[in-house]
Amino acid sequence: MPESQDVVIYGAGGHGRVVLDAALRVPGLRVVGVIDDASTLRGQRLLTTEILGDVSVLSEPRFRLCRVVVAIGDPASREAAAARVAAAGLGFAAIVHPTAFLAYGVSLGEGAMVLPMAVVHTGGSIGAHAIVNTGAIVEHDCRVGDYAHVAPGARLGGGVIVGRAALVGIGASILPGVRVGECAVVGVGAAVISDVRAGAVVGGSPARILKGS
Ligand SMILES: CC(C)(COP(=O)(O)OP(=O)(O)OC[C@H]1O[C@@H](n2cnc3c(N)ncnc32)[C@H](O)[C@@H]1OP(=O)(O)O)[C@@H](O)C(=O)NCCC(=O)NCCS
Repeated sequence: MPESQDVVIYGAGGHGRVVLDAALRVPGLRVVGVIDDASTLRGQRLLTTEILGDVSVLSEPRFRLCRVVVAIGDPASREAAAARVAAAGLGFAAIVHPTAFLAYGVSLGEGAMVLPMAVVHTGGSIGAHAIVNTGAIVEHDCRVGDYAHVAPGARLGGGVIVGRAALVGIGASILPGVRVGECAVVGVGAAVISDVRAGAVVGGSPARILKGS
């Protein structure tokens, strides 16, 4: 990245506001605006920042060198929005809140978001457009897939694998080495002690299947 990078935040909802607040605090980033699919929001403000319109504004020459952070909580919507940005020819910026701790050598995919007080320890990899939310702990050697979400206060033991677009809910804990499959959902407060199949919804302590197989 150049010394100062212009960024646009995509998403004016609650998660968008959290990511905007983080981006405004990152040295070397200049937030030039917010976009949202709801074109009626155009001209309003999110925190201190103007909502410029919908994704079509990105085709204007003034945004040519901008990077975008897709700050939409729902993974399917986040993926669709990222595809629209890529079609407009723009790249993505990852956001790491200044109070987050990233160990040396952690790999961070494009558009990933690591929010206040989160920890990602050594050997970790965070996928493209993934979220490590407020106060989450991702211990050593974890792999968090593209579009996955480790929600506030969730804790992953060493070597946990979280599949693409999976959600580890608020305050859930995952035993070291466990795999959470693609698009699986781990409920709020769960204690996961064995692998979770793709698409399954689990909850409780120890976690049991609530939906799926
Ligand atoms: C697990 C979860 C996805 C289930 O949601 P849902 O599909 O709407 O399910 P319901 O609320 O209809 O509950 C279905 C059953 O599961 C139980 N259940 C729901 N969430 C549970 C949880 N976290 N732990 C244990 N049991 C749970 C309910 O009590 C209910 O049981 P019953 O059928 O015996 O009455 C949801 O409760 C959850 O925890 N989501 C994570 C949210 C999150 O962390 N988001 C991040 C925001 S930043």
